Amino acid sequence: MSRTVYLNGDYLPEAEAKVSIFDRGFVMADGVYEVTSVLGGKLLDFAGHLARLTRSLNELGMDNPLPDEEWLAIHRKLVEVNAIDEGLVYLQVTRGNPGDRDFAFPPKDTPQTIVLFTQSKPGLAANPSAQTGIRVISVPDLRWSRRDIKTVQLLYPSLAKMEAKAKGADDAWLVEDGFVTEGTSNNTYIVKGGTIVTRQLSTDILHGITRAALLRFASEAQMKVEERPFTIEEAQEADEAFFTSASAFVLPVVEIDGKPVAGGKPGPVTTRLREIYLEESLKAAI
Ligand code: PDD
Repeated sequence: MSRTVYLNGDYLPEAEAKVSIFDRGFVMADGVYEVTSVLGGKLLDFAGHLARLTRSLNELGMDNPLPDEEWLAIHRKLVEVNAIDEGLVYLQVTRGNPGDRDFAFPPKDTPQTIVLFTQSKPGLAANPSAQTGIRVISVPDLRWSRRDIKTVQLLYPSLAKMEAKAKGADDAWLVEDGFVTEGTSNNTYIVKGGTIVTRQLSTDILHGITRAALLRFASEAQMKVEERPFTIEEAQEADEAFFTSASAFVLPVVEIDGKPVAGGKPGPVTTRLREIYLEESLKAAI
């Protein structure tokens, strides 16, 4: 069934939504995006995603083209017309179409390109990987150094994901100067002696909205959290390892570079954190 998507003010059948070949998003990866999950037809952590969108745009010298109420109205309409019960809403804003290719930015009044579409993912909350865990490999982090900006430059994470698949794993953890930065499209954690360890926020990683919620719920549940970098070796020897993202929520990692973690099974802290995250986020979903 054809989706209804949003493009620059219009709701269109997906085949009719067309963007210029000169769009800065297409020729320069000059755009930012957000992915918000939908459970029970409601948006999770929506305010956080909007706040990060504005931040990403501002860091690249772009304005947020729409007020918050309008972003919410578009998200809700797409969820409704596409009958999304469990899934995602993808949003992208680019610097628009200057009418030619040029490294210099176009004039500030060039209309930005705004695209939103839904992805239906029945079973998102009941993901079987929560029971089995996933396997990761480590690869060098060769991305640019402003990973805190959620840009559409996803070629390296995509290559890393393909390398993982070629090696029979599910995903890759990126390593820089000996320490894990994050996953291809998620934030990474280990658990040691009951303490949750995750890399501190900086320009080295994306400031995950799921990460922020998880750390809040963890401290509300009196769990100890340490924000510091960790190595692959430390992760392999940890009691548990897991990752978070808007599309995966909280998922256990049971193997890193061929070595089993937590006896090759999801651990109790990860399982509990997934439960808490889903429970609390659903309560606040809009
Ligand atoms: N990715 N780190 C990176 C590099 C990411 O791409 C993502 C999200 C995260 C987690 O952020 P959040 O919890 O806000 O989703 C961390 C999205 C889901 C994607 O690209 O599809």
